[in-house]
Order: sequence, then C-alpha cells, then structure tokens
Amino acid sequence: MNNIIVVVSALGTQGASVISACLSSPVLSNYKIRALTSNPTCEAATSLAASNSRITIHGTDLNSLKSVTQAFENATLIFANTAFDPQTFIASGPTAAQTREETQGLNIARAAAQIPSLKHLIWSTLVDTDSITDGKIVTPHFQSKIPAEKYLRNPENGMADRTTFLHVGLYASVFQRMPYTPIFVKEAQKYIITLPCATQTKIPFVGDETLNIGLIAHSIFMQPEKTLGQTVSGAIEYLTGPEIALAISNALKKIASQHPGAIQSTQVAYIDTTLESYEALWGSVGLETGLMFKFINDFPSIAESYGSDGRSKSLLTPAELGLKEELRLLEQRLEDLDWKTALA
Ligand SMILES: *[C@@H]1O[C@H](CO)[C@@H](O)[C@H](O)[C@H]1NC(C)=O
Repeated sequence: MNNIIVVVSALGTQGASVISACLSSPVLSNYKIRALTSNPTCEAATSLAASNSRITIHGTDLNSLKSVTQAFENATLIFANTAFDPQTFIASGPTAAQTREETQGLNIARAAAQIPSLKHLIWSTLVDTDSITDGKIVTPHFQSKIPAEKYLRNPENGMADRTTFLHVGLYASVFQRMPYTPIFVKEAQKYIITLPCATQTKIPFVGDETLNIGLIAHSIFMQPEKTLGQTVSGAIEYLTGPEIALAISNALKKIASQHPGAIQSTQVAYIDTTLESYEALWGSVGLETGLMFKFINDFPSIAESYGSDGRSKSLLTPAELGLKEELRLLEQRLEDLDWKTALA
C-alpha cells in the first residue's frame, strides 16, 4: 500500500508550502498526497490536482468530526493547520471565530487519534498566551489552537508521542494587507508602518512563508526521533520595527528602480504606538492583531524563543533541525511581493 500524507487546509499558505516541500522531497517520493479543502471544485483546487498525479483533492468539512475522520483514513503523516476565519470574525466577533477554530482543531485532534496507521501529526499551533501571562494578555487567534494542543498532549488520548507542535512566526507577506500595509503620509513623503511594539522589541518571523513552512515541516517529519512530542519554533529571524521598515524600504527601492513612478516614496518610517491607539486606528482587527504584538512586546523572553510554552523541556529551532542555507529571509520575500498593487 502507498504511504499517504494528508495536508489539512491545503490551499492555505501553510498547506501549500507543505505540499510543495513534499513534492520535491526524494524521501517522500513514494507518498500520495491527500489535499484537504472545504472547496474541492474551486479553480485553485482543480489546478492543484492537475499539477501532479500524486495529489488527490479531498473535500472536507473541518466542522464535522465524521468528515475529518474520513479524510484521515489510512494516513501515515498529517500536517494540520486551521484559520481564525475572517468572515466569522467580521460578522460575529472574536469569540465566535475562536469557538469555530477550537471546534475544527478538536475535530482534527480527535480524528487523528482514531487513525491506527498514523505515525506523525504536525499540529500548527501558537503560544498559550492566556496561561503564560496568567490571563493578562489573551490573544483569541492564538487561544483558538490550544484546546486541540491540550487534547493531543494528554497521554490518555494516544497522540502525545505521535505529535509535533509547530509555532509559525509572522509571514513576510502580512505587510501586503490590512492592518499592516504601509500608510503613505503625503506631507512627510514617507510611508509609515506602526505597531503596538517598542522600537527595540524583536518580532518573530518565519521569513519567506511560501518556502520555509514546508521545509520546516519536512525536516520535522524526517527526524521523528528528535521531534515527536516536542515543540518546534517556526521563527527563523527576529526583527524590530525599524528593521522591518528598512527591509520594506529596500524592497521598495528595487520596485522603484524597475518601475519608476510606481510608488510614491521609498522611505519607510517605523512609528511605535499603544494597543489603545492601534485599536482606535483599526477597530476590532487592530485589537485582535494588537494583542499579539502586546504579548510579543511585554513578554520578550517568551516571544524571542517563540514558543517556550512552559511545558516542553526544550524548544527545537529550525537550525537544530539542520536548516539554514535553504531558508529564505523576510527581506528576500518582500522583494517578491507586488508592492505596486498593495500600495495603490
Ligand atoms: C484504506 O485501506 C484499506 C485497506 O487497505 C482499504 O480497503 C481502503 O480502501 C483504504 N481507504 C482509503 C480512503 O484509502
């Protein structure tokens, strides 16, 4: 029988990166890839299926335990990630989005526990801010991944020694979308980026998310003796606000030299702000993302090791899994982005 790797949310950023890493892995060349999506007939799904005969698209409703259990049948490896659904967040608020994602995560954890063929699950989770800060900073889009993590860590559920927990840092591409997009200030002839983080606070990034998440997941699967039961950091670099502004400015200079007049300035300034001001500017989206930055700002030792969850004895870094040269940095990814459209 063929080995099967199941990728949850296969059309999302993390899933797509994992699929491309698996396709180019010689060690996984005899694996079939089952790509799960809620929308199996969309254009992205059909073109993914057409791109390689090893890929099968499987329509899956993550809100249904039965659907997820069927999707996991005979799996050898599973990579699972869920999203804090923006539509639910906008229509019904953070608690509704958190509850929805918690249910999906628990369905994944419970379904995985019922799959005897499963050797290794990667659960893409985040820091349990509530327990680490004693309830001082609670980030709903982090907490929504924690009930699944708790289920998987509980030895009674049979998954504790079949799971690796991955904490992915911020994607370089976030600066292309609200609320991160640089804001043009005409009088200053500069773009500004602003976050509720002091100028010296180091923010964890995964670098080029399209490449690095897949490489990290692949190296986790390749080294089960090191990674099972452990938490792996999906942060490869830690940048301050001014360093991010400089990296964006460098990317804009490249665009400006290729397309003169396409953007209004190549200067980018970093302005630190408070959570209250960030919320005043961006509303509920500002509060939600701002809480994450407040956590990073106020608990720097935890954010810098992006993941010390207070439980694992150690947190493995991508470097400890042997990754370095092949990873692409934030600055390289920023150069690929379509700034002309993002800043239009
Ligand atoms: C799972 O494996 C069993 C036994 O080999 C087989 O009968 C069944 O069709 C497989 N199911 C899937 C979805 O691959």
